[in-house]
Amino acid sequence: METKEQFSRRGFLKTTGVVLSLFAAATHVQSAIAGTAEGDPPPVKRDPAQLKRLLDEMDAKGYQFWSVPRKDGEFLHLLVKATRARNVLELGTSHGFSAIWMGLGLEEAGGRLTTIEIDRERYDLARKHVSEAGLSQRVTCIKGDAHVEVAKLEGPFDFVFMDADKEGQMDYFKKLFPKKLVPGGILSAHNAIGQANSMKDYLEMIRKHPNFDTVTLSVTMDDGFCLSYRHRIS
Ligand SMILES: C[S@@+](CC[C@H](N)C(=O)[O-])C[C@H]1O[C@@H](n2cnc3c(N)ncnc32)[C@H](O)[C@@H]1O
Repeated sequence: METKEQFSRRGFLKTTGVVLSLFAAATHVQSAIAGTAEGDPPPVKRDPAQLKRLLDEMDAKGYQFWSVPRKDGEFLHLLVKATRARNVLELGTSHGFSAIWMGLGLEEAGGRLTTIEIDRERYDLARKHVSEAGLSQRVTCIKGDAHVEVAKLEGPFDFVFMDADKEGQMDYFKKLFPKKLVPGGILSAHNAIGQANSMKDYLEMIRKHPNFDTVTLSVTMDDGFCLSYRHRIS
């Protein structure tokens, strides 16, 4: 069992190369659902100072709302942009911090995010924050149990951020793969280091799945992501 410190030093270096390959794979082959879609919301002109204020306020309350650390939000933003994701799904919105980072990432290439939250208060707050970020056209918030709601969504998605109940990852995977995740798509599970025990079944399965390349990485050198790339050719 690796300690966090060991992971920080060795794991980061080891995964960096694999992540770069993962980026390359995801960006060099044209996405199955890439291209400008009709009816795509145009990028919104927003006041950078106002957006920074909103993100700072949300970040300050991150602990209360279990939201991703800012660095992880920035990483999700970069991932969404770099993979030119166009149909993104988030499980577990909370107050909308990660949703806003990903939504902003979608502004460059176009695309939409659907995010699901079970708690009424957090859902209401997320909608308010998404609106304040000027992302209401791009981000659809759904109030409900993601285990139920995912089954109702058509997809397919090219980027999925799984950040709801950690014990539910395996069920989410079964609901998404193969039909609702495009070949070339990415599954990203948060807290894959800090809460690895809660998603042990999922982590063990996805790491040896023949249709995926999987890496675990940390941006904060603390907790992190399990990132899985679905092969285009199986
Ligand atoms: C870790 S927080 C999400 C943080 C958010 N992604 C962010 O970074 O701003 C997990 C959220 O998932 C929600 N959740 C838990 N189980 C859920 C379920 N079955 N369906 C939808 N949401 C769920 C919780 O209410 C909580 O708000």
